[in-house]
Order: sequence, then structure tokens, then C-alpha cells
Amino acid sequence: MHIKKENVLQNNTAPNKFILLGLSEEYHIQSILFSIFLGIYINALTGNLLIILLTLVDQTLQTPMYFFLRNLSFLEICFTSAIVPKMLHNFCSGNKSISFMGCALQNYFALFLGGTECFLLASMAYDRYVAICKPLHYSVLMGQKVYTNLAVASWLSGFFMSFGHTTMVFTMPFCNSNVINHYFCDIPPLLKLACGNTFRIEITDFVVVVIFATFPFLLILMSYSGIIAAISKISSSEGRKKTFSTCSSHLIVVTLFFGSACIKYMKPNSTYFPNTDKYLSLFHTIISPALNPVIYSLRNKEVKGAFMRFWERTPLD
Ligand SMILES: *[C@@H]1O[C@H](CO)[C@@H](O)[C@H](O)[C@H]1NC(C)=O
Repeated sequence: MHIKKENVLQNNTAPNKFILLGLSEEYHIQSILFSIFLGIYINALTGNLLIILLTLVDQTLQTPMYFFLRNLSFLEICFTSAIVPKMLHNFCSGNKSISFMGCALQNYFALFLGGTECFLLASMAYDRYVAICKPLHYSVLMGQKVYTNLAVASWLSGFFMSFGHTTMVFTMPFCNSNVINHYFCDIPPLLKLACGNTFRIEITDFVVVVIFATFPFLLILMSYSGIIAAISKISSSEGRKKTFSTCSSHLIVVTLFFGSACIKYMKPNSTYFPNTDKYLSLFHTIISPALNPVIYSLRNKEVKGAFMRFWERTPLD
């Protein structure tokens, strides 16, 4: 896009809007991308709503594991809805601006829900660990109070962390420009626009990554080490398969989530590929919310069974 003079800001002025460059500047590519992302978005909404519905109505899915799964699906709907509708709007309207407040809110929700997701995934791993390694104490260690508290703690910690962080980012002076080379108000492209001292934010980012990504990741690693150790002690291969099947979908989702986050946030800052960040972000903002319900329904016999029962019960005519 051709950058007008007015988008280069005067010293220390807070812009009243930002420009999101998006994925492409070509009109015909934008219309193709619009259809693709609209399709994926609709899939994400339907799949996650279906999971929420099934885990609410089906009697066999009334366990802590499906409580967490329902919560995860709800989170994915919010996450993808904070980003994709605005992106689709920019594709088709040709208007790439977003208000200062809109940008702050989008940044807030992305960080809030991303942080919450890390802790929810860790809670789900802990649930599988208790179920497989301490089956006799499962109902005590994973009682209703425990799992609701774990979920509430995940949501609250994401909420407050993001509140602090977003306030910090958006009270900085933006004096370089207001053009964001991204399709949503993510932190790294925003920090590139800030001019003042970003040292405090970089330190805060480091602490946030340790608490919200490294720590849950280690918990997940520990849970799965315990699970694998327990499974390797089972003598029959049939029994091993059956025990592992309850956590394989979660393991795939976790690997995809942390794998893409690692590549995105831990890659060295490259000036040669300024757009890699945008393409990698597509994974956790758009593709993964649509993929998770598919992984859970294809790999999980209980969800599949619930879906068949639900289908048979619903009159089609
Ligand atoms: C997710 O968990 C929170 C905290 O327990 C709860 O308030 C919320 O209703 C849950 N959402 C769904 C869809 O289960």
C-alpha cells in the first residue's frame, strides 16, 4: 500500500487510528483469501459450537476432561472472533484502518485468551495425568471444586496479565508511524512502531513468557512423562492403546499450539523475512481453532459416539 504522509506521525502523538496492512495488497488475491478465511472461520465456529453442545447434553461426556474441552472450545470461538471478522472486513472493504481503541481491545483479547489457553491446556494435561497415574484418587484430586477452580484461575490470570500488558503497550508513545505490518494488533509489530524506551516492556514480555508459556509447558511435559511411564508399565498392547487413546487428541492439540508458538516467538528476529510473523500467526489465530474440534472428534471415540447419538436423536424432517 502506498503510505501517505499523514501516516508518519509527529513526535509523541498518540495516533487516533492504525492502519493494518493485512496479508496482501493485491485486490484479486484479497478476494480469494476472503473466501478461504471465511470458510475456515465458519468451520471453526460450527465445530466448536458442536463440541460445546455435545459436552453439555451427552451423558457420557460429563467428566472434568470434557468440561475443560468445552471451555477450550468456548475460548477458541472468542479468540478467533476477536481477530478474523475484522480481518475479513478489511479484505472486502478496502478500508484497512482500525481505531486506537479497537486496536487496544484486539491486542487485549488476543493476549488474554492466548494466556488463558496456555493454562487451560496445562490443566487438561494434569487431568489426564491424575486419571492415568492416580486413578483411585481421581474423584478426589479432580473433584468439581478443583476443576472449576483451575478453569477460573486460568481465565483470571489471563485477564489480569493482559490488562497490565496492554495498558503498558498502549500508553507508550507511537511516533514512528501508525502502519502495522500485520492483519491484527499483535504485540511485536506494535512494538516496532513505538519510539520511547521499550526496555520495560521487553522485560515484562520475558516474565510473561516464562509464567504463561514456559511454566505451563513444563507442567505439560511433566504430566506426559508421568503418563508415558505409567503406560509403559501396562503389559498388554491393547491396554496401552486404550489408556493412551484418552490423551492422544490433547497431546496433538498441545503439540500444535506450543509448536507454532515456539516457532513464532522464539525465532531470531529476521529482517530478511519481515512477513514470516504474519503467516505463522495464521496458524493459532485461524487454523488451529478450526482444527481442534476435528482432532477431538476424529480421534476420540467418546466424542464420536456422542455425535452419532446426537445425530440420530435430531429429527431431520
Ligand atoms: C469456562 O470456565 C469458566 C470458569 O469456570 C466458566 O465461568 C465458563 O462458564 C466456562 N465456559 C464454558 C463454555 O463452559
